[in-house]
Amino acid sequence: MELSIEDFINLRNLIYERTGMQFGENKIYYFKKRIQKRMEQRDIHKVAEYIRYLKMFDRDNREFQDLINLITVNETYFFREFEQLAVFGENCLQETLEKKRARGDNTLRVFSAACSSGEEPYTLAIILREMVDDFTSWNVLVKGVDIDENVLSAALKAEYDSRSVKDVPPDYLERYFNRLGGGMYRLKQEIRDLVSFEHVNLMDRKALRSERNYDFIFCRNMLIYFDDQSRKQVVERFYTMLNRGGYIFLGHAESLSRITTSFKIKRIDGFTVYQA
Ligand SMILES: C[S@@+](CC[C@H](N)C(=O)[O-])C[C@H]1O[C@@H](n2cnc3c(N)ncnc32)[C@H](O)[C@@H]1O
Repeated sequence: MELSIEDFINLRNLIYERTGMQFGENKIYYFKKRIQKRMEQRDIHKVAEYIRYLKMFDRDNREFQDLINLITVNETYFFREFEQLAVFGENCLQETLEKKRARGDNTLRVFSAACSSGEEPYTLAIILREMVDDFTSWNVLVKGVDIDENVLSAALKAEYDSRSVKDVPPDYLERYFNRLGGGMYRLKQEIRDLVSFEHVNLMDRKALRSERNYDFIFCRNMLIYFDDQSRKQVVERFYTMLNRGGYIFLGHAESLSRITTSFKIKRIDGFTVYQA
């Protein structure tokens, strides 16, 4: 199969417009292997024909979704960026709990944008379970969303290999996971019950319209694949989803400084957090 630079640019522009993900020309081989697989499935022989199919005949978006399922980068693991999570659990979470207790509000809502195979929202649920003293008197919701259907199926299954759990503190591993043998672990139901998942393209203007009243949004290691324009679009939506005083946590290589002035920037123990 031939993938010309023009066809590559055409395809990556289509992906960018619909998902916000940007791919440089160094990704041409990465694309080629994946497009080839999709073209074989559809019995299409020319890339130009495949692009035409995506643009004109893929009315239910099925082919585009199958392509996206192959192209996303899903790297993740439990307790990723541990020190930042400690800032969340020991600082921002406690401050929020105190404010809410004073108001008689017992809801706690956390959103994990681009949650991949579930390690991040499940980690957040474990932290809530451990760090909220009067946990049972709270109405807790952790929601994970991702554009990739395959990772969401894995998240619902909640079975992980030893690489995924390598940073889980040993006592938490004991408390919240069952060993399955063969180096695999299954997360216990008590944590799974705290988390719900939804298939969402964060660049879809209609998505998340009814999502409101979140206390925390984690959007880590997704915006690095976006440009400033698509970052701005997503982050403006996050602002409307957050309660005033709610927080956004980003990945260590990500920042909102060029993107928006809507948030207060706070430095806590060397980490930047953004407050609505
Ligand atoms: C590297 S993973 C990050 C996982 C986790 N947040 C972490 O930091 O470990 C990036 C995820 O972003 C998702 N993603 C990319 N574009 C998206 C979009 N437009 N809407 C929703 N999810 C998207 C990908 O499917 C992928 O699972």
